[in-house]
Amino acid sequence: MYEQVSHALLNDILDELSTEICREDLRHFFTRLGANFYAIHSLFHHLYGHREDFKAQMVHLTERLAQAYIDRPAQLCQLDMAREEDHDWFLDQQWVGMALYCDSFAGNLHGLQQHLPYLQELGVNMVHVMPILRCPRGASDGGYAVSDFRAIDPRAGSVEDVRDLAETMRLRGMLLTLDVVVNHTSNEHEWAQRARDGDRAYQDYYYCFPNRAIPDMFEETMPEIFPETAPGNFTWDEAMGKWVMTVFNRYQWDLNYANPAVFIEMLDIILFWANQGADIVRLDAVAFLWKKIGTNCQNEREAHLILQLMKDCCQVVAPGVLFIAEAIVAPSEVIKYFGEDAVIAKECEIAYNATFMALLWDAVATKNAKLLNQGIKSLPNKLDRATWLNYVRCHDDIGLGFDDADIRACDYDPYAHRRFLIDWFTGAFEGSPSHGRPFGVNPKTGDARISGALASLAGLETALETEDERAISDAITLILTLHAMILSFGGIPLIWYGDELGTLNDRSFLNDSDKASDTRWIHRPRINWARAERRHTHGTVEQRIFEGLKHLIAVRKDTPAFADFNNRELIDVANPHLFTFLRLHSTLQADSVLVVANFDVNPQYLDLEVLGNRGLFRYGQIIDLASGDLPAIFNNRVVIPPNHFYWLSNQHTGPLQEGPFR
Ligand code: GLC
Ligand code: GLC
Repeated sequence: MYEQVSHALLNDILDELSTEICREDLRHFFTRLGANFYAIHSLFHHLYGHREDFKAQMVHLTERLAQAYIDRPAQLCQLDMAREEDHDWFLDQQWVGMALYCDSFAGNLHGLQQHLPYLQELGVNMVHVMPILRCPRGASDGGYAVSDFRAIDPRAGSVEDVRDLAETMRLRGMLLTLDVVVNHTSNEHEWAQRARDGDRAYQDYYYCFPNRAIPDMFEETMPEIFPETAPGNFTWDEAMGKWVMTVFNRYQWDLNYANPAVFIEMLDIILFWANQGADIVRLDAVAFLWKKIGTNCQNEREAHLILQLMKDCCQVVAPGVLFIAEAIVAPSEVIKYFGEDAVIAKECEIAYNATFMALLWDAVATKNAKLLNQGIKSLPNKLDRATWLNYVRCHDDIGLGFDDADIRACDYDPYAHRRFLIDWFTGAFEGSPSHGRPFGVNPKTGDARISGALASLAGLETALETEDERAISDAITLILTLHAMILSFGGIPLIWYGDELGTLNDRSFLNDSDKASDTRWIHRPRINWARAERRHTHGTVEQRIFEGLKHLIAVRKDTPAFADFNNRELIDVANPHLFTFLRLHSTLQADSVLVVANFDVNPQYLDLEVLGNRGLFRYGQIIDLASGDLPAIFNNRVVIPPNHFYWLSNQHTGPLQEGPFR
């Protein structure tokens, strides 16, 4: 958009840019800057316009953008342009992701590169490498307490290794996702060190207070994120003689985005990693970017403005790069991290679908899909050019962040229901085969979350212990069904490393004093490659899960109805055990897919009448795309075995014939 004030300012700034910058060929940069400048200026003005140095900061920002553009390798600029042409590329069903710790998966970046064929064997073509930036040895929160945003932890490798990995992945048609921990730094970061040395300019990078007056006001309304290990949201720093805001762990200092220097630094870091070859940048803890007394300091409007500004700036330099929002917040809030526009994502193109994840686990424990159906019904529609990251497990705990109104709508009491889920997954509930651990227990509020490996939560560990073949089989079926849900829901499925082999809880973290108090380490396993070999031996648990998952991934990639064009319709089937939704094919109705999962331990029936006159299954045989089988149908009702799912579609063999299912 053209607007006089920002245009005049842009002209001014261009006059002030250093001659070195002006010498470069910046044609594409200037077209994009022109297109986004009105938005950039108004957002920056909204956040920092009251400051005397506003214009100087604006010049500084523009210079950084120009420099980042100059630094962007030619190959990546070409990729940007290709993606501009094909702007829906990331909505395609071909993408399948895996998140992994580089060290536990393969030792280091070099090892990871050598294991890319393993990922490709499974069908994974997007890899989120968990944080590998330099961080303190002990107090690192699994890499989320960064002490240098531009250096790789020497144990993982070097920046050069990242560039190398990115290039190899590009040649293999794989996407690289890297983290930028935008909300906080380690207390050992240089900025924090300078702040501790008394440098006021760097104290201004954080929220520092000489006494408890302001911190106490904040505490009135701020929840605790890690109540067991890091109660409260402020930490006294002896060297500085001040309280500093530490929402997560005590050694993670929250960055102060009211200071434009912080914004510019962090944006520059995002662009730095984009220029090393990251296709996707995962922005950590984005809900927390703005703090305001009297609020819970999450999802504030300014947090959204900061993300919009980051996106607008990134589009100028590296428009092919996508953002993932890690905002584990209520459904009505998470949707806003796509940005509030009619079509395109103005903040992050991709967001973690924590709602779906937690609802799936609810279905597992309750053996019905009541809350799952209710919760998905309440999930607001998202923008056209934005997509979900769907996952069953990740490196974090499972938070039971359902909407209380949804829980009540299912005739459960919210407190009692959450209590039941905790008991179920920690194995305290009579008859539960789950082996999870509580996480984030807060006696003051009664809140708790759950840690545990997928296979251990789903009952595989218990089944193996008791050598109960039937239970082993059931657990494997359930594990595959959960994956089938994230593969077909709409969005990019993200598998947690190890789950493709049915990896169980790893209790070794208890022997490490840096980890022992954080139960999330129980589901961050070290991959045992000898065990992974068993995926080639018919009948092993590893083979059944790996091959099963591999097959589902292949089918997903072959099923255009699974691309995410907001083409999902939840179907009310009047059977509380079933979760049923239709994935509509954009042009060929016969290629639409009806997804149905039975969370019960008994077979359940899906009455095809519920499809009404949607025209699906009018001709020919109904086939389950996942198995290639024709499912059992009786009286126009499909029988879904316990814990099983189907991807139902029309069989394509020869000319279409009128079949019995009209
Ligand atoms: C994010 C990460 C989590 C980390 C937290 C603080 O939520 O996923 O692992 O503990 O941020 O950085
Ligand atoms: C995240 C979330 C919280 C999650 C935690 C990591 O930012 O807000 O729900 O459990 O950090 O454990």
